[in-house]
Amino acid sequence: MNRLELLGLLCAALLGCWELGDALTCSDKQYEYKGRCCNRCRPGEKLVSVCDKTEDSICTHCESGHYQPSWTKEKHCAPHDICEDNAGLMVKVQGNATHNTVCQCQAGTHCSDTSCQTCVENQPCRPGTGFVAAKAVERKSSPCEPCAEGTFSNVSSKTEPCHPWTSCEEKGLLLKVKGTNTSDVICESSRRSSLSVLIPITAAIVTCLVGVCIYCLVHTDSRQRMQKETEAGKHGENADTPQPMEQDENVLPVQETLLRGQPVAQEDGKESRISEQEML
Ligand SMILES: *[C@@H]1O[C@H](CO)[C@@H](O)[C@H](O)[C@H]1NC(C)=O
Ligand SMILES: *[C@@H]1O[C@H](CO)[C@@H](O)[C@H](O)[C@H]1NC(C)=O
Ligand SMILES: *[C@@H]1O[C@H](CO)[C@@H](O)[C@H](O)[C@H]1NC(C)=O
Repeated sequence: MNRLELLGLLCAALLGCWELGDALTCSDKQYEYKGRCCNRCRPGEKLVSVCDKTEDSICTHCESGHYQPSWTKEKHCAPHDICEDNAGLMVKVQGNATHNTVCQCQAGTHCSDTSCQTCVENQPCRPGTGFVAAKAVERKSSPCEPCAEGTFSNVSSKTEPCHPWTSCEEKGLLLKVKGTNTSDVICESSRRSSLSVLIPITAAIVTCLVGVCIYCLVHTDSRQRMQKETEAGKHGENADTPQPMEQDENVLPVQETLLRGQPVAQEDGKESRISEQEML
C-alpha cells in the first residue's frame, strides 16, 4: 500500500461516516436512539419509556402542579413556582401543564432583584423623584423615577408624581429663578406685561370719559335750547331765536286759537300739519 492508496481509503471511510450521519438526522421533534429516530414527548408531557427496535416512545401527561414547556425526552416535569406569601409574592398567572406559574410582588412592594425571589416594601419617592403608576403596577422595581427636565417633586411621597414647572409665559410673567428637579420655577411680573394690561384698561377708561363728556355736552345743549324755546314762547317774536324756531313761533298763536275753539282758516297746509303734530 502506498501513501496515495492509504489517503483514498481514509477519504472513503470518512465519506461513509458522513453518509451514515446524514441518514440519521432526526427532526427537532425526534431524538436518536440506537440508530433510529424516535418521537419526543409534546409540551405538557414527559417520557415514560424510550423507543426500541419496534415500539415508539411512550409519553404521559405531567402530574398536577408540574409543567413541561417543550418537545422533550426528559422523564420529569418541573414543579410550578410557588408564590411565597411571606416573601411578599402573589400569583400573577396560574401555571398549567405547559407554563410555569408567574409570581408578582404584592401591592406596595417591588422585586428586591431581577430574579424576583423576594419583595421589598416601596419607599416614598424622594424629592427630585416622582411616583410612576405604571411601574407600581409592574412591581418589578421601585415605582420612583427621577424627575425629567422640566418637572419637579419637592416632597417625599408614595403617590406624588413629578409635576411640570409653572409656565411663567402663560401667566404673562417673566422667569425669575430657574426650576430644578426639586423646586418649581419662580416668576416675576415684567414692565412689558404690566403695560400690556394697563394700556387696554386706560384706553377703556378714556373712551368712557370721552363718551360721558359728549353725552353731557349734547344733553346740556338740548336743555338750553328747550329753555330758550320756552322763553321764546313767552316773549313771542321779540326773542332772538335761530331759524328752526321761527316755524314754532308761527304755530303757537294758531294752537292758541284752536284751543279756544275758534275755527280759524288755515292759510297754508304746512302750518296746519305742524300744529297737529304739536298737539299730539
Ligand atoms: C397555559 O397557560 C398559558 C399562559 O400562561 C396559556 O397561553 C396556555 O393556553 C395555557 N394552556 C392550556 C392548555 O390551558
Ligand atoms: C436633581 O438634580 C441634581 C442637579 O442637576 C442632580 O445632582 C440630582 O442627582 C438630581 N436628583 C435626582 C433625584 O435625580
Ligand atoms: C412644593 O411646591 C408647591 C408648589 O410650588 C408649594 O405650594 C409647596 O409649598 C411646596 N412644598 C414644600 C414642602 O416645599
